[in-house]
Formats: sequence, C-alpha cells, structure tokens
Amino acid sequence: MFRSHTCGELRTEHIGHEVTLAGWVHRRRDHGELIFLDLRDRYGITQVVFDSITAMAHKVAEESRSEYVLQIRGRVRARPAEAVNPHLGTGTIEVEALEAEVLNPSRTTPIYIAQEGGEDEMIRLKYRYLDLRRERMQRNLILRHRVIKFMRDFLDQEGFLEIETPILIKSTPEGARDYLVPSRVHPGKFYALPQSPQQLKQLLMVAGYDRYFQVARCFRDEDLRADRQPEFTQLDMEMSFVDQEDVIQLIERLFIELCRAVVPHKHVPTPFPRLTYAEALARYGSDKPDLRYGLELINLSDLLTATPFQVFQQALANSGEVKGLCIPGCGSYSRKQIDELTEFAKIGGARGLAWAIVPADGGEVRSSFGKNLGEGEMSAIVERMAAKPGDLLLIVADQPSVVAAALDRLRREFAQRLKLADPNTLNFSWVLDFPLVEWNEDEARWDAVHHPFTAPQDADMHLMATDPGKVRAKAYDLVLNGYEAGGGSIRIHRRDVQQQLFDLLGITPELAQAQFGHMLEAFEYGAPPHGGIAPGIDRIVMILADESTIREVMAFPKTQQAVDLMTAAPSPVDERQLKELHINLR
Ligand code: AMO
Repeated sequence: MFRSHTCGELRTEHIGHEVTLAGWVHRRRDHGELIFLDLRDRYGITQVVFDSITAMAHKVAEESRSEYVLQIRGRVRARPAEAVNPHLGTGTIEVEALEAEVLNPSRTTPIYIAQEGGEDEMIRLKYRYLDLRRERMQRNLILRHRVIKFMRDFLDQEGFLEIETPILIKSTPEGARDYLVPSRVHPGKFYALPQSPQQLKQLLMVAGYDRYFQVARCFRDEDLRADRQPEFTQLDMEMSFVDQEDVIQLIERLFIELCRAVVPHKHVPTPFPRLTYAEALARYGSDKPDLRYGLELINLSDLLTATPFQVFQQALANSGEVKGLCIPGCGSYSRKQIDELTEFAKIGGARGLAWAIVPADGGEVRSSFGKNLGEGEMSAIVERMAAKPGDLLLIVADQPSVVAAALDRLRREFAQRLKLADPNTLNFSWVLDFPLVEWNEDEARWDAVHHPFTAPQDADMHLMATDPGKVRAKAYDLVLNGYEAGGGSIRIHRRDVQQQLFDLLGITPELAQAQFGHMLEAFEYGAPPHGGIAPGIDRIVMILADESTIREVMAFPKTQQAVDLMTAAPSPVDERQLKELHINLR
C-alpha cells in the first residue's frame, strides 16, 4: 500500500494509529534534533515530526527539500495545545515519523509553491504543472469540476442527451476567424475547427434528438482579452419545440440550483432581471451591464435642444445625444484627476468629456462648460442628474454608440474605484430583443448580430425588406456581473426565411449552397422549430471563483498572444510534414 491516508484526512480520532502518507514537502523547519515537514497532496497538509532518535527517518528529513516526494510511515499523535492550528483540517494532530523514503527529489522550483502571488504570470504559465500544485489553482479546478458535474447531472435529469460532435468540420461562422487544419489526403483542402457546434446541434434537432447538450470545446482565432481564450468551453444546448421563454426558464433554474450547490455563500437575486437590448444600451451604455449597482446613464438631450453650447448643439444636430453620469462624492477631484478621466473617456472613443462639480459646501457649480450654456440649463442638468453637494458630473455628447461606449467605460471604472459592486452577489440577467443584423461600415453590408441561423421576431418580419436594421431577433444573452455569460437564440427552421436572411446578408444562393448546403437541405426534410443557448463555462467559473481572468480557471491556458508557454506552441514544423500537407510557406 503506497499510502493508508491522504494528507488531508487525519483527525483526532486517528491518534495512536500507524499510518503511511505520501506527498510533497510543502515546508520544512529544521531545529536540529527535531525536523518538521509539512507534507502536502491535493487533499491537504499534514505535519510530520522527525526525531533524531529514529535516525534513518531523521536523515531523510535532513536531506529533503521543498517539493521532494516522500513516503512516510509514522504514528498519529495529538499536537501540544500551543501547537494546534485551527485553520488546518489536520491541525489537531501530527505524525511522528518512524520510517521515511525519498520517492523522488526535486530541483529548486522556479516558483515557490507554498507562497502564492508575486511572480510574473508568464513564469506561472511556463511551469503550469507547478503552479497547479497551489491551493488557489486546485480550488479553482475543483470548483470547475463541480460546476460541470452539476450541469451534466441537472441536464441528464431534465432529459437531455450529451452527444459529441466532431472537431474536424467545415467552417461554422460565429464571427471570428477559423483555425484551419490542412488535409493531407485532399491537397489544398482544409477542415476548420468549430467556433461552436452550432450547425451540428441544429442538425441533431432535425434528427429528432429533441434535447441535446455538450460540454463543448470551441476554437476562435480572435483578439484575446482577460475573458477570451483561443479555445474555450461552452455548455452547448439545443431543444426542439420550444420558444424563448422555455430556454430562459430552464437556464434560470439550472443556474439558481447550481449556485446554491457550489457557491452557497453567494447571493443570487431571482428571478433574473430582464432588459431589452435597447434599454440596456440606453441605461447602461452596454449590452452586458453589471446590475449589482446603479450609476445609470442619464439622458440630457431633451433639456438642451436649444442650447447655445456648440459641442452639445452639434452632437444633437447630427442625431447624436448628450448623456452623463452623476458620480457620488467625487466633487473633490482635482483638475489633474479630471484630465486623466478625459483621457480615459477618449480611449473609449469620446472626443471629450464635459464635467461639473457641485461643491460640498453648497456654493456655485464649477464646470468646464457652464459659461457656454444658456439660461437655466445648468440647473436643469443638475436637477435631472439628481446631483447632490459633493458630486461630480461627467457628460459626453456624440453619436449614441460613442456616448454609450465612453460612459460604460467610466461607469465600470467608478464602480471599481467606489467599490459599488458587492463581490458576494451573482447578478444574472437577461438581455433580450437583440437586433437581427447590424450595418458593417467597412464592408458596406449587413452582418448577423448573433449568427445567420437566428430567427427574426415575427412582429418585425415586415421590416426585413424595408428597414432591416430595425428587425429584432429572437436572440438573448445571459449576463452575469457585467460579463456576457451566454448567448442563444430561437433558430430559423424554414428554408424560405433562411434564404431571405442570406439574401439580406449578401450570401448568394451559390455561396449559401457551398457553405451551408447541408443545412438548407436538412431544413427541407422536416426540421422542427428549435432553439438553444451556450453558456460560457470558463467565464462563469471565473466569476464564481472571484477571479478576474479565465486563465485562472483553466488548467493549461494560453497567453494573450495565443502562445502555450509550457509546450512552446505554436512552433515550426518539419519541412517533410509541410510537404506531406502540400503546403509551401510564403
Ligand atoms: P456565442 O458566440 O455568444 O454563441 O458564445 C457563447 C458564449 O461563449 C463564451 N465565449 C467565450 N469564452 C471564452 N473565450 C472566448 N473566446 C469566447 N467566445 C465566446 C461567452 C459567450 O456568451 N453557437 C452560439 C450559441 C447559440 O446560439 O446557441 C454561440 O457560440 O460566454
């Protein structure tokens, strides 16, 4: 028997027992006659005491260093009262070593396992197998396991089938670039890695499987951020004979029960609030607003229709808007601080930032633009923004999309500075009624906002030909604490409607046939009405784990440059391999 117990298992009731433990040396304290080793495995830490009386074992302890792998036979005894550690599961006992063996020594590790943080993330990623020994990473990966296990069990009980779909497929568009895999057998031809199993899950509905899910790996070659990796995992789902409300109800139950099971200390407001896309943009400047705090955008446009102030006047004349935020208690900001905020807003696309301060002592409003305003306009602004003495008002005038982006940026920044968001609340919400298509200025064409299989809303069908930008889709996003946690839609299941949307997107019948011929054909053989959603597992676990990047909840993530530092991928390949694949590098 390699071990009789794990390093997290022994308690007072084991006192007197002879045990065998195996694990890593976490910490070592050498007092000469007595050496203390903390032996660690993924279950916990046990203190082992080596007395020089048991000379052989003591010698092993003397030679051992951090991260040596040891096997220890010993007797469990109570710790002296002053040595009891209430923070450790095994804190009331220690093991008196009788025999010890080094199963494997370790070089000095490039990161110190027993002490978290401090070093560069690059070194953690290069030595990920060491980083993963740490408690924080173990906690995160165990949480991830529990989340996925819960999802599987829940969906199984709800009658869903988990069905695997291929990784080598044909391009399925989700708006990112594909990762391509060259075919050796078919010169010049390529597979694409799935950006999601979207088409396949729809085909499973045509095949009659009714309720499908998959813990699905997705691949997208896009610009990376803290919440984006080139490969990530979705809880991919699809259902037949459902409408939007069925999907929403099921997902709400899933996440309410999931949170209760795996993060019972977190507060989940229910039912999940619902906003339309238009409302979310108007009130928060974002289609994924963090609803744990208010700080809403306040529209001032209607107060300023006759303003003499050029900046506001011009924005409004160009079908723009004037909107602002009232930041509580920040009226003491210096000019320098406000200048920094202006630069910050400019990164968000704004051309400038107008500010006003309501002095805490009740004096006259100071501002960057007051002298340009007309009679009564400043007091109307202060009143509309419900500004109190000591508040800072920040105002942007521009096109609606610019105003939204800049104020969303400021809103999130101030939420952090003022700690407005309760870290123990999980605020799930729904954003509904997304537009079906958006105008792509660069390519001068309509693009699908979700994907080209998303159904238009019945009430807006008549606008498809005349005003496509106004057509709302049967599309919904699950938002969690300011992140897009999932997206889905009711799909088009009729070929004529699909054709109409392809026409609008400029996908010619030939192109549609070449790219999606299998889908169009399948829709002619009795496709049921269907819809689904795909919550992003990495992002959800990240938020449940109180982490700020998804890298912290993935075992082997890549850097923001899509590099795997541990294995050094991507890397050059043999000339011979390229030749076999019929590839010539430029
Ligand atoms: P969508 O493209 O909205 O929908 O993706 C669904 C969810 O996946 C997560 N996600 C990501 N997570 C980490 N890294 C990425 N690069 C990344 N990209 C997306 C997000 C997102 O909300 N087939 C549709 C779903 C459907 O319609 O049923 C789809 O993939 O949490």
